[in-house]
Amino acid sequence: MATNLSRVSLAHLPTPLQPLERLSRELGGPQLWIKRDDLTGLALGGNKTRKLEFLMGEAIHRQAQTVITAGSVQSNHARQTAAAAARCGLRCILVLSPMAPAEPEGNLFLDHLLGAQIRWAGDRDRDEFMQQIADQERVANRTPYIIPYGGSNALGAAAYFEAMHEMVRQSRQAQVEFDSVVFASSSGGTQSGMVAGSAAMHYPGRIVGMSVDEPSDMLAQRVLRLARLTIEYLDVRVEVSEDRVIVVDDYVGEGYAIMGEPEREAIDLLARFEGILLDPVYTAKAMAGLIDLVRKKTWRQDQAVLFWHTGGAPALFAYRDRLLRR
Ligand SMILES: Cc1ncc(COP(=O)(O)O)c(C=O)c1O
Repeated sequence: MATNLSRVSLAHLPTPLQPLERLSRELGGPQLWIKRDDLTGLALGGNKTRKLEFLMGEAIHRQAQTVITAGSVQSNHARQTAAAAARCGLRCILVLSPMAPAEPEGNLFLDHLLGAQIRWAGDRDRDEFMQQIADQERVANRTPYIIPYGGSNALGAAAYFEAMHEMVRQSRQAQVEFDSVVFASSSGGTQSGMVAGSAAMHYPGRIVGMSVDEPSDMLAQRVLRLARLTIEYLDVRVEVSEDRVIVVDDYVGEGYAIMGEPEREAIDLLARFEGILLDPVYTAKAMAGLIDLVRKKTWRQDQAVLFWHTGGAPALFAYRDRLLRR
């Protein structure tokens, strides 16, 4: 990987790679493992911390004083950006949508605690709004740096190119070969980086992104485009073929951020069998999909499958009432 990227150290790496012994036994399927990117460590962690090492590095390299990004009310990306900005001594402005809820809970509460300024987008276009805020910062004599939605550009995806190498090193040490790597995919940066990394290493396992809202063909197109841009950006000489991009949209359920019964079951199973917290918006959907595929006997018992935990547990608190109601 090109080493001339500016980077700040924000994450505890490598994150652990662990077997899910009790859950595997309970489900009676293949050996399930987990990669703990919920433990990246920055203000309750998650996948965006890896991306932010590169994105904040670039912001500092460009002498920015303010970082601006966007997300939904319970955005994990926004929370981790606020924490990264605090750590680097930069101002942080978050464009959140749609409107301020009655109580600032979960990630939104943490955004406030981390000192971010919050602007509510309402029905405004988030990208245009971020540009307007950037203009206001320039007028105030501050250099702004806009981090795209989800931190998903080639620079952000480069972090998961590297993470893929990290995971493969760990799996060799643990002497386990994964048939599939399963995780939640949304803006596509995480999956693009993994796909780019897997192409560069000629990794034989399947990289399976579980869509949390979009139809699979739309997300797959975006992932393929961004994976190719990432390869180009990193100046790696390899082709990313279309068949490396696998997106499953069968587990979107009732839609983005809506927690149904499968998501609730996934949260319960991981909590009660492994002491691991999933989030209701992303990782519970992906795990619900994995559980269903295990029950459908997609893999043999002697195969191994990796669930890549991408974080998000702070959102659990905003869903507390729905989780407790049975
Ligand atoms: C907990 C969690 N998992 C997965 C994702 C999806 O990552 P990406 O946007 O890179 O596809 C996100 C993105 O917001 C997230 O917060």
